[in-house]
Amino acid sequence: MKEIEVNGASPLFNTDGLQYREFSSDFAKIRYYTLLLVSSAPSRIKEANLLEQQVSELIKNGIAHGNKKDPRKILKVWYSFSRESARIIVEDQGEGFQEIKEWNEFNKRRLECLQKQNFEKLIEYISFRSHDNDEKDGGNALFAALEYWNGGLVFNDKKNAVAAKKIFSTTTALQEELNHFQPWDIDSDKPAR
Ligand SMILES: Nc1ncnc2c1ncn2[C@@H]1O[C@H](COP(=O)(O)OP(=O)(O)O)[C@@H](O)[C@H]1O
Ligand SMILES: [Mg+2]
Repeated sequence: MKEIEVNGASPLFNTDGLQYREFSSDFAKIRYYTLLLVSSAPSRIKEANLLEQQVSELIKNGIAHGNKKDPRKILKVWYSFSRESARIIVEDQGEGFQEIKEWNEFNKRRLECLQKQNFEKLIEYISFRSHDNDEKDGGNALFAALEYWNGGLVFNDKKNAVAAKKIFSTTTALQEELNHFQPWDIDSDKPAR
């Protein structure tokens, strides 16, 4: 079962070769910050803006839950986007996501409902409510994040930094190459009958 990990020693926190940017905790600028980051990604991996959406959720959490939208607090972001993978580390100056264990348990029960198609009970698992979130928080972005970041979603030991990795399927890349192939290329070295 996939879950959010807590491991400051994870290789996903290695910043070698990653680009770096710092942002102030201006909630109104989240979309702009996200675009600055994602603009460096090859278009192939943007997949109908999924990458942008997922990056923006991590930025939003750092600014809103971590830095509590305090403009004096900065958000540090390391990132790298290539055809093979996307990596991002977002570090805020907050108290950390202390309820990761509860979140994982909640998500496990949520997935069980889905698996058993128990839609009646699923209603209880639409939104994770922690001590500090309010009605405006959807409480559900990290469910999709855990699916999207298939190379891992890890918090550091203080839980104020999250590192995420997405591995893009090489079969998609291969399929794209094959689309440029013409059938006669394949037969071209067969002897003529
Ligand atoms: N950087 C962070 N610092 C502190 N808490 C966090 C952080 N990121 C996520 N959380 C916690 O995880 C919860 C779930 O996050 P999410 O799924 O994005 O939903 P939402 O942000 O809508 O509440 C948040 O409500 C918050 O309690
Ligand atoms: Mg969120």
